[in-house]
Amino acid sequence: MKYYTIDQLSSLNKDQEKLARFAVIGNPVKHSLSPQLHQPALDDLGEDARYLRVEVEEGQVSEAFQKLYDAGIHGINVTVPHKLEALEACDIVDPAAQNMGAVNTIVFDQKGNRTGFNTDGPGFARAIREEFSVDLGDLKVVIIGAGGGAGRAIATQCAIENCPQVILANRTLEKLQPIEEQLSNLIHREDLKGPRDRIEIIALSDPSLERAIESSELIINTTSVGLKATDPSPFPSRWVEPHHLVYDTIYNPARTRLLRESQEQGARVANGLSLLIHQGALSLEYWLNRDVPLEVMREGVKNALRE
Ligand code: ATR
Repeated sequence: MKYYTIDQLSSLNKDQEKLARFAVIGNPVKHSLSPQLHQPALDDLGEDARYLRVEVEEGQVSEAFQKLYDAGIHGINVTVPHKLEALEACDIVDPAAQNMGAVNTIVFDQKGNRTGFNTDGPGFARAIREEFSVDLGDLKVVIIGAGGGAGRAIATQCAIENCPQVILANRTLEKLQPIEEQLSNLIHREDLKGPRDRIEIIALSDPSLERAIESSELIINTTSVGLKATDPSPFPSRWVEPHHLVYDTIYNPARTRLLRESQEQGARVANGLSLLIHQGALSLEYWLNRDVPLEVMREGVKNALRE
């Protein structure tokens, strides 16, 4: 079964060896890689649990949470387009997720109360440590596409980690103004200049983007530019220099034009596979309260991408 609808949940556990206990909701959801990420880990840990995809219509997220809980599914991941609606449907929202404006992980307590978390931000911090052996909080960063969902979560994490410089770039500048305001309130380290001076916003088309990139140590692409093999780089990759770390949140294709050309410029590069794995691992840690097998999850996703 590729995915369930919420009306099919009552017959979930008929003729099945393992109990349905975890799910991802989205729309469309059939291409979500979450089952291939989580099921091998659940099996490896010896959990009697299946992880399902469930398609949910917009406006029905809260109702879906109740139906999933009633069906015995007490751990939920949320993917597009439901991350904001999920936040609104929670009883408690983790403060970081509140700042990110999105929730991707739901944990239920014994009474069925819902707490929402966002593991994209902390998952990104772990991904950077794994890929480049540095702490995100020590880096001057520029986020290309900070007005999108993933970009905002990563930008918020950079503020939480007290990065010495956070430059937010986006095609549509207006989307960045409320995010800048919110992040300025979050940043509290005041050793250098005023805290506000460490956050800047800039339009992708602004010529001063070149200077912004030059002054950064970590360049992050969170736009969707690169998903198609024929896509260009989201900014001229000749601006990339050997001192740069370049992280593209896209993992399929594995090497976007940005990553290929940045590598040719001598930079160290990484794709979004590590973010996918770490955000998933953090969800599983919330649900199971134990360490989870990262390498099993990585293999699971790699196998799925090869299919
Ligand atoms: P979300 O992540 O919220 O689902 P999205 O529509 O997938 O949003 O877009 C993610 C990011 O990719 C946004 O920052 C978007 O820029 P805008 O805010 O200006 O729409 C960016 N993006 C998408 N297509 C783009 C393009 N052709 N050039 C530059 N940025 C682009």
